[in-house]
Amino acid sequence: MQYAKVSKDKAEALKRFLLEQALFAKGYPVKASEGCVMFPIKDPDPVLNAFPEVAIENLDVKKRPELDLRAILKQKLTEEQLALLPSGFDTIGTIAILELPKELADKGREIGEAILKLHKNIRTVVAKASKHQGEFRLQQYEVLAGKPTFETMHKENGVRLKLDISKVYFTPRLAGERLRIARQVKPGERVLVMFSGAGPYPCVIARNSKAKEIIGIELNPVAHNYAVVNKNLNKLHNFTPIQGDVREVVPKLNQVFDRILMPLPKTGEHFLDCALRAAKNGTIIHFYDFQPEQEFPKATIAKVKRAIKPKEFEVLNGVVCGSYAPGINRVCLDFRLK
Ligand SMILES: C[S@@+](CC[C@H](N)C(=O)[O-])C[C@H]1O[C@@H](n2cnc3c(N)ncnc32)[C@H](O)[C@@H]1O
Repeated sequence: MQYAKVSKDKAEALKRFLLEQALFAKGYPVKASEGCVMFPIKDPDPVLNAFPEVAIENLDVKKRPELDLRAILKQKLTEEQLALLPSGFDTIGTIAILELPKELADKGREIGEAILKLHKNIRTVVAKASKHQGEFRLQQYEVLAGKPTFETMHKENGVRLKLDISKVYFTPRLAGERLRIARQVKPGERVLVMFSGAGPYPCVIARNSKAKEIIGIELNPVAHNYAVVNKNLNKLHNFTPIQGDVREVVPKLNQVFDRILMPLPKTGEHFLDCALRAAKNGTIIHFYDFQPEQEFPKATIAKVKRAIKPKEFEVLNGVVCGSYAPGINRVCLDFRLK
């Protein structure tokens, strides 16, 4: 969720503005930290235009418990079961994705049907049935209620993304992060997106920047096919999806890029040598990693140093862009090669 962070003395004015402009993201808590107040927002653009001093941060905050959901399920679940209901869910297109505790495993259909009743934009309710696994980083799901399909059309940052959530890695939680990167792309840049999946980063960059060319490389053939569909769906002429292993494709490309994205946090460091083959002095690399809260950015900087030495680099930014597990964040280190 995107939050607007402002000093306490400006908080009242910002709050009024958010209410007047209907920019508050309802159902999310307001937070306070170190003399600042943080408001959950729907869209950072109008906020930043009106309050340039505001900092936008991505926080992995769950929506407050759905009181209505509890009311609908009151007759079907015990008090103990009601207390275990998840406090929110991810939505990809028309699919709601729940994390159901095992104690509620036999109540999945009732919970799914209650969600369909409450949220008219949802057509299918699924539960996570595994963690992300394998080279393609896929997750298994079980349909709880609604139309039995895993394919949907998701909208974010001005693009439409068609994908099958069981055959392609995708998380809607990185929407703010994708826009953060797109906003840094300068007119005329050549951008390489390694591990591009169904194309969310390339599509969002193509839509929200004046990049000259964006190349996406993805190993999973199903994800690549969706990337081609999404390029065409959004009429993006400067995006070229390529299917294959970045280790094989990058040397064959024999091109250098102004910016390289590496959204493979689990094992990305093993591909930094490959990124260097497509880089020049001045290339900016966005390197994703998983790190315990207290270790970032130090540990990620050390990881990059080890992997690319003796090549030197300048750290531009380090951002937390989501949570991976309790106490472990998904982070991005932006650095420029010297
Ligand atoms: C964490 S997902 C990110 C996908 C996409 N960028 C997104 O944000 O939705 C990592 C992707 O890298 C792909 N991948 C893994 N190893 C690869 C390799 N050696 N070459 C190309 N793609 C690879 C996986 O199939 C997966 O789709």
